[in-house]
Amino acid sequence: MEETNKNVLGDCFTSAMALTESGVPHVPTRYILPPSQRPVLSPSIGTGSINLPVIDLSFLHDPLLRPSVIHEIEMACKEFGFFQVTNHGISSSVMRDALDAATRFFDLPSHEKMLLVSDDVHTPVRYGTSINHATDSVHYWRDFIKHYSHPLSKWINLWPSNPPCYKQKVGKYSEATHVLHKQLIEAISESLGLEKSYLQEEIEEGSQVMAVNCYPECPQPGIALGMPPHSDFSSLTILLQSSQGLQIKDKNNNWICVPYIEGALIVQLGDQVEVMSNGIYRSVVHRVTVNKDVNRLSFASLHSLPMNKKISPAPQLVNEDKPAAYGDFSFNDFLEYISRNDLTKQRFIDTVKKNKF
Ligand code: OGA
Ligand code: NI
Repeated sequence: MEETNKNVLGDCFTSAMALTESGVPHVPTRYILPPSQRPVLSPSIGTGSINLPVIDLSFLHDPLLRPSVIHEIEMACKEFGFFQVTNHGISSSVMRDALDAATRFFDLPSHEKMLLVSDDVHTPVRYGTSINHATDSVHYWRDFIKHYSHPLSKWINLWPSNPPCYKQKVGKYSEATHVLHKQLIEAISESLGLEKSYLQEEIEEGSQVMAVNCYPECPQPGIALGMPPHSDFSSLTILLQSSQGLQIKDKNNNWICVPYIEGALIVQLGDQVEVMSNGIYRSVVHRVTVNKDVNRLSFASLHSLPMNKKISPAPQLVNEDKPAAYGDFSFNDFLEYISRNDLTKQRFIDTVKKNKF
């Protein structure tokens, strides 16, 4: 298998990390975005005028104060499909350890990482670069390792054995995000007027994909991106970042920089919640900028219903005035879609909408 990977992919695979380490003064042509898609990197953009929501979750566990937290969540979901959370129950040492394991993984020599390379989106553990280096028309300044993470015992043996601390440190963080996701989806169901337990069973048995991203220093951050505009297929994505770089699109189609807040985690609504809420909430469109000075790491934990379980608008949120605006879809349907289509050309959620105009 290793040989096959090398033969098929070895010649055309160059990681962003390898380019940075080689000291290239310019990004290769395949990374250069058309002018209309280039980011505006002025530090003032989005940081001054707009206050993105930061929600303290400690009161979620207090029956008297819970309703006010649910209200804050509802407002954030309606306005942005995005919020940051503090006092979320995941200790800073667990987060630091996960980032440390990721640093060590990406610092490994190329041949070690290439043991896990794959351009097949169905592979449960895979190392790669850009979105899909084999098919991308424009490349993105990102390397990643993605792995299935829930249930942990089913997948952990397939995770990287190097660095030796990886399984233990990233395993702990994965389990902690699974617990946090359950609490958040309960709160989000409640904020929509549904039972707290609306998706309980599906979430318990749900899938979790951990995308561990590395955005190395980039010589020309004004003409490249780490990830193109997209929304996640997940119910929710919980994101841990080592420094600033994420941007979200607001209702007026402006790109807003997400500030780095020490110890906080980012929560992004994905396509599954958009469908479940029958469009009351929208998945957030986001992209990643790169920079000249620091290597940025992130853990995007994409939680969803089980692989083949279809999500559809909650019956309680469908009525004569507001008919179902979406068909149903599963994580597996999403994988089939991305294996055949370029996500930068058409968003997956648009294919699920009933009224496509
Ligand atoms: C993703 C993603 C954002 C980031 O992996 O889907 O959007 O900041 N990541 O790395
Ligand atoms: Ni994303």
